[in-house]
Amino acid sequence: MKPLKIGDMIARLPIVQGGMGVGISLSGLASAVANAGGIGVISSAGLGVIYRSYSNDYNTASIHGMREELRKARQATKGIIGVNVMVALSNFADMVRTSIEEGVDIIFSGAGLPLNLPSFRPAGSKTKLAPIVSSGRAAKLLCNKWKEQYDVLPDAIVVEGPKAGGHLGYKAAQITDPAFSLEAIVPEVVAEVRKFEEQYGVEIPVIAGGGVYTGEDIHKILSLGASGVQMGTRFVVTEECDADPAFKQTYIDATEQDVEIIQSPVGMPGRAIHNSFLDRVKQGLTKPKACPFICIKTCNVVDSPYCIMLALYNAYRGKMDQGYAFAGSNAWRSTKIMSVQALMDELSSEYTAYEQALA
Ligand SMILES: Cc1cc2nc3c(=O)[nH]c(=O)nc-3n(C[C@H](O)[C@H](O)[C@H](O)COP(=O)(O)O)c2cc1C
Repeated sequence: MKPLKIGDMIARLPIVQGGMGVGISLSGLASAVANAGGIGVISSAGLGVIYRSYSNDYNTASIHGMREELRKARQATKGIIGVNVMVALSNFADMVRTSIEEGVDIIFSGAGLPLNLPSFRPAGSKTKLAPIVSSGRAAKLLCNKWKEQYDVLPDAIVVEGPKAGGHLGYKAAQITDPAFSLEAIVPEVVAEVRKFEEQYGVEIPVIAGGGVYTGEDIHKILSLGASGVQMGTRFVVTEECDADPAFKQTYIDATEQDVEIIQSPVGMPGRAIHNSFLDRVKQGLTKPKACPFICIKTCNVVDSPYCIMLALYNAYRGKMDQGYAFAGSNAWRSTKIMSVQALMDELSSEYTAYEQALA
């Protein structure tokens, strides 16, 4: 596999580990991925719950948590470390500012278009900015806005297709529509990005994710013009993944039918593994006592059937009857827990074998 070059930063392998909240990708997983040659990404979602022993104030604990996780990751690796900050988070600005202050290598930002992301990067900062989009149209809009308002372009663009895990930037009907498949949208995004590259004489690598599972998948996506892939699901079932073993076990136990689309209180569809908690939600048996964190801008607090932050936190801690696991469409294919290095080796050898078979 060819290295992934983002400006002056080079990852030996073109594999980005997608940020996974709440708590699924912290410094443990991110540093293991970075040590294995990929880009490791810490999720900023819910750090204020994970670090609530530091402060009862969600925002204060989140800032502390971000600093702690970045410092732990730095101690564990000299590789490339990024953070994932969703636009929908109420503390988006705090999380972006803190990670830039800590000198994070790259910020990935989706779940909404991060139109003002460059405003947080001071002159001289080396932090790269990589928005996550789900269409060529969104990529074009974002590049135009950033150029117009801040005279910058993204350092990389992630395109996430509808097979991804967690919240999806698609309407329910688009999720199964072939016109919105990753294979269909990667060439669209690449074509839009190429125009900006040519006009301004820059390189903006496109990184594509959502359903990428094997080395062969990586080869196919790169042959569509992407320079790298973003993978989430495969990294959940690793020894270094920061989630409780019970969370990982749900992937191993899941059948294809168990992986379902849910309507999240955040107002977006999401993909998760079916369980008794989600059954209780459907039956109307759950109701949050209060909104403890005000963590997501778009959350419908009044009608919400449950607090998503607590449900995802409980799942991260292994309390699967009080929450659920987000998962990509391929989660049911998981059969065992392996080390990140073994996974990267497997992906590399599958990639090479596929390339040789093509030659
Ligand atoms: C458990 C889980 C949690 C996720 N949480 C986030 C998140 O907090 N922010 C985000 O932008 N993407 C999130 N994602 C999406 C991943 O970063 C990644 O892009 C996606 O899962 C790639 O598809 P794959 O799982 O099929 O490899 C999550 C995915 C999973 C499986």
